[in-house]
Parts: sequence; structure tokens; C-alpha cells
Amino acid sequence: MDYETLDRETTQQVREKYNKKAKNYDKIMGPMDRMMMGKWREMLCKNAKGLVLEAGVGTGANFPYYPQGVKVIGIDFSQSMLEIAESKISQAKVPIELKLADIQELPFADNTFDTIITACVFCSVPFPVKGFQELRRVVKQDGRLYLLEHVRSERAVVGTVMDLLNPLTVRFQGVNINRRTEANMLQAGLSIVEVKNLLSDIVKLITAKK
Ligand SMILES: C[S@@+](CC[C@H](N)C(=O)[O-])C[C@H]1O[C@@H](n2cnc3c(N)ncnc32)[C@H](O)[C@@H]1O
Repeated sequence: MDYETLDRETTQQVREKYNKKAKNYDKIMGPMDRMMMGKWREMLCKNAKGLVLEAGVGTGANFPYYPQGVKVIGIDFSQSMLEIAESKISQAKVPIELKLADIQELPFADNTFDTIITACVFCSVPFPVKGFQELRRVVKQDGRLYLLEHVRSERAVVGTVMDLLNPLTVRFQGVNINRRTEANMLQAGLSIVEVKNLLSDIVKLITAKK
């Protein structure tokens, strides 16, 4: 069943934003990673098993956190982000293969992956339900999805401020700060297994399955 129509022009606009941001991405995000993201990435990746799809791999910030024994296929729709990720493959303890691909139209067969990982990706996927439908399609029946995502707060004032600022963050960064990610996952037919709040009700570690 289709819940969203994939608009390739909108997708292209977001991709271009990431292609432009790529060269300064680590300079801006690096300090934040060292402050708090590092321990969250460790929590995110530690349960990975078997064949792993990291969707929206960006510049490869999760690579050092993958446990021995897994094999990772990392995809991103931004060639410029992937080029930086390529230079960090040596930081990983596990084999990593990178591929240019859109989460909304994945070039993989149904039921391929044991684990799917995303980190701060579903704020920018232009059509998130479509993206989750694709992740649902390619994960194995007994596979798991682990997501580290920032979402819209359900607290009235904070949520309203996020709604008001969202048009600006989308316009300048291609990032939505008011995504209702759990609702989008359910709409795509995924089942949510566990949700851990890491920073208020805004940054979450979400475990899901088909
Ligand atoms: C905020 S960055 C996060 C990167 C990385 N996951 C991390 O934790 O540092 C979001 C990434 O998702 C990618 N992305 C967004 N929408 C995508 C899509 N539809 N298909 C593939 N990659 C996408 C962007 O190109 C970007 O690299």
C-alpha cells in the first residue's frame, strides 16, 4: 500500500543540501559527537548482528562502534557525504561497503538484512513513511531496526516552537525538527519494540521490527 508519493524533485533538493554541507559537516558535528553522541552511537550499534544496512550513513560517524562479526552496507543519497565516509572505513573493526542509494527506493531484495541502523536520518528523508516502508521491506522477518533519531517533542510549548521553526530548518538545512517518527514508522507497518528517551522526549533510541 502506498501512503506517500515519492517526489524526486523535492528529494533532489534535500540531496543537494547535503552535498553542499558535506565538506564542513564533521567540523560542525564533531564537537557534538565528542560531547554526547559518542555514547549514544555505542548504544545504537552494539546490538547489530549479521548483515547490517546503515541507512543514511553520512560521513561514517558510526563506523568505530560496530561490534566484531557484522558486515555493514552503508548507503546514502549524497555522493559528497559518502566520499568522506569512504575515508573513514579504516576506523571500523568490521567490513564496510558503501553505496549511493535513496532510502525511499532501496536497491536491495526483500528480507535481506538482519539489522538496520539509522542515526539522525529521518529528520531529512523527504518522504519518511516511504523510507520506512522500504526499510520494512528489506529487513528480515526476524530482523531488527535500531534508530537514533531526534523527533518533535510532545510537550505543548516545545512542540509548538519546533513547529514554528521547522519551515526555516527545512529551507536552510533540509532538516525537519518536528518529525513524528514513531507515528511514521507505525504508518509504514513497522512494530515498535522499545523506545528509550535519551534527551528529554526529543532524542530517542527506537527498536522496531517488521
Ligand atoms: C544528519 S545526517 C546524519 C548522518 C549520519 N547518519 C550520522 O549519524 O552522522 C543525515 C544523512 O542522511 C542522508 N539522507 C537523508 N535522506 C536520505 C535518503 N532519502 N536516502 C539516503 N540518504 C539520505 C543525508 O544525505 C545525510 O548524510
